[in-house]
Amino acid sequence: MTRIGFAYNLKPEPPELSGPTGAAGRNQSPADGEQSRQEEDPPSVSDEFAEWDSIETIDAVADALSEIGEVIRLEANEEFPERLRAEGPDIVFNIAEGRYGVNREAHVPAICEFYGIPYSGSDPLALSICLDKARTKETLAYHGVPTAPFAVVSSMTDLPATRKLSLPLFAKPIHEGSSKGITERNFCRTWDELEAQTAFLLETYRQPVIVEEYLPGAEFTCAVLGNGREARVLPIVGMNFASLPDGALPIYGFEAKWIWDRPERPLQMFDCPAHIDDSLAKAIEIVTLDAYRVLGCRDWSRIDVRLDAAGDPNVVEVNPLPGILPNPADNSCFPKAARAAGMSYNELIQSCLRFAAARQSVALDESPGRARAA
Ligand SMILES: Nc1ncnc2c1ncn2[C@@H]1O[C@H](COP(=O)(O)OP(=O)(O)OP(=O)(O)O)[C@@H](O)[C@H]1O
Ligand SMILES: [Mg+2]
Repeated sequence: MTRIGFAYNLKPEPPELSGPTGAAGRNQSPADGEQSRQEEDPPSVSDEFAEWDSIETIDAVADALSEIGEVIRLEANEEFPERLRAEGPDIVFNIAEGRYGVNREAHVPAICEFYGIPYSGSDPLALSICLDKARTKETLAYHGVPTAPFAVVSSMTDLPATRKLSLPLFAKPIHEGSSKGITERNFCRTWDELEAQTAFLLETYRQPVIVEEYLPGAEFTCAVLGNGREARVLPIVGMNFASLPDGALPIYGFEAKWIWDRPERPLQMFDCPAHIDDSLAKAIEIVTLDAYRVLGCRDWSRIDVRLDAAGDPNVVEVNPLPGILPNPADNSCFPKAARAAGMSYNELIQSCLRFAAARQSVALDESPGRARAA
């Protein structure tokens, strides 16, 4: 039976978050900076582990994998390298977001490569590039994939570099995801607003700020599955900004993800398939697959796209470790797109593993197994 190592980072339970071994030093950013700014509270660590997975997601993935092999849970903690080496699985299914620093998403794949163990998903280089929004856009622009013009501000002395751009602008921390540090205040209509928000982001998130021209059009996110000519875009997810509170900017940021979308009053944020005509869908698919290819993504990724003033799709950012919440009520885009394509959650996870196995000539014997505890 195929032995499938399963690498993940488990989100700690809330009480642990405030403990002394909590967030210090992780991700180079204080958590929840926006709330601390708006309410003048001491920073909480409530979103410090926002990208790590819940036990519900981890169990769901393990269940899916257990239908096609023996699952060996390998939490990506300090013991991961030794455990990986000792277990020597045939292949690792990787959803680990990583612990420290700007290359954190690359660590598990790099350790797998060190031991010569096949793994699913993108390689360390692609993961690190995609966690740097400027390097991502440099790569896209070099290859002619449309993306908004931008400048990087590492300290306030770099601010003049933004003057080549046209207002309005949008500023964001360069190395974050899950809308950490992305609120309506990042939309800057004037140079004064840009200066103030850039200073705030530099101070709060302790990392460079990327300043981009604002893309005023509709927004989509695209789930890609497969490799080479087999790579395909699942039904496109459209952002329904009309579901945001009156007067809100059409931005899928911190407020929309973490404040306005409440279990008791969920936002109807996503249309899947998006309500667009075939020619726009085709144009979005082309830039999505081009971005996937030039960034070296493998097996799966989720790519955010927005229309510019001319109505042409531009790539906003690329997520080679897509969110995969199993509960349909959680509105996770990749599983939603898979469902619209007629794939169950288990089929989605298994399909990703099959693409990874085929790429690395790992035979999956497809006989049912049983999940083993960590
Ligand atoms: N140049 C831009 N023009 C207009 N809106 C933008 C621009 N860049 C980002 N946004 C808005 O901000 C949102 C969050 O930006 P982005 O996707 O880069 O952040 P993220 O935190 O990495 O997202 P995710 O949660 O997908 O990981 C986008 O979905 C979009 O609504
Ligand atoms: Mg995004």
